[in-house]
Amino acid sequence: MKKISPVIDFERGLRGAIGREDHMLLHRTYWGQSEFLLFEQFLPAEVVEACLSEVEQLSGDIHRNYVPGHKKGGSVSFYSIREKAPAILALYRSTTLRTFFSRLVDSALKLCPEDDPHSCALYYYTKPGDHIGFHYDTSYYKGARYTVLIGMVEETERCRLVARVRKGPAFTEVSETRVPMGPGTMVMFNGDKLWHAVTPLGARERRIVLTLQYVTDQRMEPVKKLFSSLKYAFAYFGPAVLMHRRKASR
Ligand SMILES: [Fe+2]
Repeated sequence: MKKISPVIDFERGLRGAIGREDHMLLHRTYWGQSEFLLFEQFLPAEVVEACLSEVEQLSGDIHRNYVPGHKKGGSVSFYSIREKAPAILALYRSTTLRTFFSRLVDSALKLCPEDDPHSCALYYYTKPGDHIGFHYDTSYYKGARYTVLIGMVEETERCRLVARVRKGPAFTEVSETRVPMGPGTMVMFNGDKLWHAVTPLGARERRIVLTLQYVTDQRMEPVKKLFSSLKYAFAYFGPAVLMHRRKASR
């Protein structure tokens, strides 16, 4: 008998969480910080719990990666999430959430194309020293790319998102912010504007973060597409995603 997957609908819960926010304040703060915003304990508990149980179930799909001098850690790609994690997928595809983000950034946001393995992904910091050095989440798309990070597991004192947040009239004041990403806490930023890193994990610690990516234009130049495919294959999800990407784009 065909297995019927449960219908997951987070829209009501998300509307409630969004409704409790001061939207004018959020908008002012986001733009006043050169397109960076922190939402502490934002996601409703039922959404966090559903995603957390999938985070644990996906641990068999983790691809470990090591880029000397830059990053070390584990990742799970969008392809695994699409196949095995209906709650995380429902969160990423939520119209309520995407409309909220679109209003914040003053642009109509779109999901990434189905063949982008990084469109919605999980980062697992599970071994001592797991980290990522300072970088931008550069957009290879024709438009802007926005990153949303959502804390899932934060069993660590050492491993933190570090964001160099720009403020002031000409955004010349830089304040380095260390952000604890407890379950349900979220940050959003324009990938080309925030210089950020994650500090190394200590012994017997664990940190897991979900990322959702949104774009203003789903198109990408062929050369940039090749570069982004290779980058995501070798620095994040493993060469197997290259085969997936070819299948998805047919
Ligand atoms: Fe990043």
